[in-house]
Amino acid sequence: MKKTILITGGAGFIGSHLVRRMVNRYPDYHVVNIDKLTYAGNLENLKDVENASNYTFRKIDIVDWEQVKSVFENFNPDAIIHLAAESHVDRSIENPMAFVMTNVVGTVNLLNAAVQQLKHKPYFLFYHVSTDEVFGSLEEGGFFNEKTPYDPQSPYSASKASSDHFVRAYGNTYQLPYIISNCSNNYGPYQFPEKLIPLMIYRILKNESLPVYGQGLNVRDWLWVEDHVAAIDLIFHAPQAVGQTFTIGGKNEWKNIDIVHLLCDLMDHKLKRPNGSSRKLITFVKDRAGHDLRYAIDPSHLENTLGWKPSLTFEEGLHKTIDWYLANQDWVNRVTSGEYQLYFERQYQSRT
Ligand code: NAD
Ligand code: DAU
Repeated sequence: MKKTILITGGAGFIGSHLVRRMVNRYPDYHVVNIDKLTYAGNLENLKDVENASNYTFRKIDIVDWEQVKSVFENFNPDAIIHLAAESHVDRSIENPMAFVMTNVVGTVNLLNAAVQQLKHKPYFLFYHVSTDEVFGSLEEGGFFNEKTPYDPQSPYSASKASSDHFVRAYGNTYQLPYIISNCSNNYGPYQFPEKLIPLMIYRILKNESLPVYGQGLNVRDWLWVEDHVAAIDLIFHAPQAVGQTFTIGGKNEWKNIDIVHLLCDLMDHKLKRPNGSSRKLITFVKDRAGHDLRYAIDPSHLENTLGWKPSLTFEEGLHKTIDWYLANQDWVNRVTSGEYQLYFERQYQSRT
């Protein structure tokens, strides 16, 4: 039977991979991508599916209730997979209110529309794509799992924790069927080059300094973006997942400085530069305020109940990622040409 699935934030990094997967794998679904097209949203990310007969795009700001309501009225959806968000921690430190508006108010608007939609579609499903940052910071040892208490430490993670709480509250209060997944750091093609991996790739390419916060000792758990969207697809289609939470991660912890070294070495090789030349670009800069030390996910619930596992090693994923950025320098130049330059200069100057 034909289903209509709303995907919010589908022009962003993870959202564009998810839209592409759903459009291609499920020709019977009508995939409606709603996105405000902020600096982080780019329809070029979806060029290969933009003319597909089962795909529609609408430029919508989820903070605007009238726009949200009209999308639900016009498309009568069966489910929503909600990814639209302000997603960058450094920006949340500079301007927390933008995060409150989109991540909290925008999510509550969608939840209100979803509750109204239950009158037409009693099994309407609200899937919230969230982050492991809601759990706070880990010391050595220990992993986040579905039972870890919330302890958000940045304005970004506080806004995502708040939206998770609203989703569960609507499930409890209005019997809205929901799913939440909390994923670790993603990497891969189409990631906006303000995030660590694409920022380093693009600055190594341009022979520019590589700003490593603090001593570079913070640890992140990296996952190939297509493995994240494969997990979302699997969870979304599992009837037993409704009302549950899943933590998603690739058991792939790295200190930031080790990743930057690896990227430098891989790129020296690919660009035929003398060994060690990119490492000379590394500049240790002032640390991020309130910088979480370590994130690490225990994905065993997802692995054991739904059989998910990552498809690529980190080395394979990094090779693919670097090759994509080298082949798509026009994309990088276009997405970074607007307000991003001012943002980066402001950030960089405040750290040096
Ligand atoms: P992104 O910044 O690349 O994309 C966000 C998208 O949301 C953009 O297309 C943007 O235009 C859109 N958007 C922003 N504000 C909007 C608004 N008011 N109305 C409609 N659209 C709006 O983000 P991403 O890295 O792809 O992350 C997607 C989701 O996944 C977020 O909810 C994020 O919290 C979560 N997440 C991200 C990661 C990661 O490593 N990137 C990990 C775990 C969870
Ligand atoms: O854990 C999931 C989260 O991962 C997502 O919810 C967020 O949306 C996503 O942005 C990401 O957050 P991080 O803050 O971990 O990612 P970021 O790429 O900004 O930074 C990764 C690490 O690298 C972090 O410890 C800070 C450091 N860093 C980052 C930048 C941009 C640097 O040392 N230098 C930099 O220039």
